[in-house]
Amino acid sequence: MIYAAITAALAAGDRLRHAFGSELAATEHTAHDVKLVADKECQDLIYGILLQHHPDSACLGEEGDIGKPGAPIEWIVDPIDGTMNLAHNIPHFCVSIAARDAATQKIVLGVIYDPMRDELFTAVRGSGAWLNGQPIQVSRRDKLSDAVVAVGFAKSQDSIDHCLKLYAVYGNQAKKLRAMGSAALDLAYVAAGRLDAYIEQGVNLWDIAAGWVLVEEAGGVMEIEQKIKGKYKVCASSGRIDYPLK
Ligand code: IPD
Repeated sequence: MIYAAITAALAAGDRLRHAFGSELAATEHTAHDVKLVADKECQDLIYGILLQHHPDSACLGEEGDIGKPGAPIEWIVDPIDGTMNLAHNIPHFCVSIAARDAATQKIVLGVIYDPMRDELFTAVRGSGAWLNGQPIQVSRRDKLSDAVVAVGFAKSQDSIDHCLKLYAVYGNQAKKLRAMGSAALDLAYVAAGRLDAYIEQGVNLWDIAAGWVLVEEAGGVMEIEQKIKGKYKVCASSGRIDYPLK
């Protein structure tokens, strides 16, 4: 299955790398979000590749679901995570693909591909996590005062209000606070030990599914709470920080 996920992520990433820098058509603008034609195009490309390799699976994604109801494997896809960055020609976005075992509801593998840096993060439950084929581990820093913490800015007003409160806390107490605009890459960076923690309220499953298994397989801790249906509060870290992250 990992082969199909990597093939799909590289194909979509290649398309996004070529599209980067051009005027990208939007299908929808809301107060704190944009949807691009490329979102749907990349999702169709990814679904096609996944279903070609695994016709018995189902695909759930930001731009809609397809596939067999009751399928044993569910792909959870964010074709572009960091859409606002891409729309503004900021080269920090990725493709995120996870596979979930329908019976246990456990994420069994995750692939996150950053096409601008050609960085491929992969993890298989029980086997480890890698960046471009090299094993990765979460950071060993244990003091919040030494930590670089990413706080994601979600889209709804209540999650933005919550985030602003976190800014006051982590802006003052962490070594440095970051808001980079891609939840999936934030999780991949926690897995790789680049970030010490990532916190966000109001994310969707497709934003975090692949990163979830990456962080855990790299030795980290994911605290996930479903605040309202389909919207999650996430706190990812090494589990070593000397401060209750929330
Ligand atoms: C968004 C990004 C962003 C996060 C939002 C997500 P999208 O995903 O991951 O960093 O703060 O909560 O919805 O819309 O670019 O796929």
